[in-house]
Amino acid sequence: MSGSDSPQVGEGAMGHGYARHSRVQHRAADHGMPLLHRALETMVVPRDGSPFRVADLGAAAGTNSLAPLRAVVEGVRARTGARTPVTVVHTDIPANDFNALFDTLTGSPDSYVQEPDVYACAQARSFYEPLFPTAELHLAWSAIAVHWLSRVPGPVMGHVFSSRATGAVREALREQSRQDWEAFLTHRARELRSGGQLVVLGGACTDDGASGAEGLMDAADDVLGDLARQGLITSAEYARMTIPTWNRTAEEFLAPLRTEPLAEVLKVEEHDLVALPDLHLERFEESGDAAAFAEGVTGFFQAAFQPSLFSALDPGRSEAEVSAAAGALAEGLRARAAADPKAVETHWHVVTLRITRR
Ligand SMILES: C[S@@+](CC[C@H](N)C(=O)[O-])C[C@H]1O[C@@H](n2cnc3c(N)ncnc32)[C@H](O)[C@@H]1O
Repeated sequence: MSGSDSPQVGEGAMGHGYARHSRVQHRAADHGMPLLHRALETMVVPRDGSPFRVADLGAAAGTNSLAPLRAVVEGVRARTGARTPVTVVHTDIPANDFNALFDTLTGSPDSYVQEPDVYACAQARSFYEPLFPTAELHLAWSAIAVHWLSRVPGPVMGHVFSSRATGAVREALREQSRQDWEAFLTHRARELRSGGQLVVLGGACTDDGASGAEGLMDAADDVLGDLARQGLITSAEYARMTIPTWNRTAEEFLAPLRTEPLAEVLKVEEHDLVALPDLHLERFEESGDAAAFAEGVTGFFQAAFQPSLFSALDPGRSEAEVSAAAGALAEGLRARAAADPKAVETHWHVVTLRITRR
């Protein structure tokens, strides 16, 4: 299946550099591994030779899926004491680069797909929709994906980042996030079999609304404003640019799980809110190499956010114009990051959740 460079406005596909620039998200997955191991120790597993079925929801290029899925294959086989077949379905939105995903799965020496009796495939559909037949799954894993909304109710005026939204726009984003999260949980509650588990690492914020990335997002917003002033993008394009995410508070993650109907079928086993270290800044503090720091921060930002920001460009834009705007965004962000590394210090907040289907 082929991917596309042109996601719909409001979609959150990653850029083609995601496989190379996803160390930050990899660190988040590290926080999820202990929960995954506890899920593997306690969830229901097939004892009759039938396949164990696991979903990886929001897989992107699959780089950060390899370690958790290898743990799943090993964990299931340790539990069953047999070479239980394992089927893995990696899902993402249609705009995802599925070629990159299959390159990772088939080309990486670390890939779990080399194991015997393991069957990997992919599905291009939003996880806010039904993805599997009823009671199909033993386990679902989703890392750093559920903060991407199904749609943005409207642009965040004066900024590209939702956590800077105020007033009615902020409330509309919060309401969209509530609906999306409830839809996600409702579908997974139906798709998981009784005794199955769901492990989610979700982009989060503290109770005061801070995602931990405000400095970086402010810098990016300033640079995009400069691009509009320089005429590289129009002011209408800049005004439309919104990263379609909402970083939920721990309470926003937990609220639907405390009330009927979801509380009846889903049980929260554990949850936590963690702040990730700034890997780029840590490396800079060791090396003093501001240029490498700026390159790392810019690569991360462009891989994660440029496709959704640039989906706001006019459809008639030529490749040369888009590439000039991308180059100017990279140059501006690199310059700001190199000039003041502390100003773009980023400690993404992540909620970790392990849930059992009763
Ligand atoms: C930051 S990447 C995380 C990828 C990977 N799980 C990891 O840990 O590195 C977020 C992924 O979520 C996907 N995503 C966003 N909205 C989605 C949706 N509604 N349904 C499925 N995937 C979605 C994006 O396309 C992207 O590939």
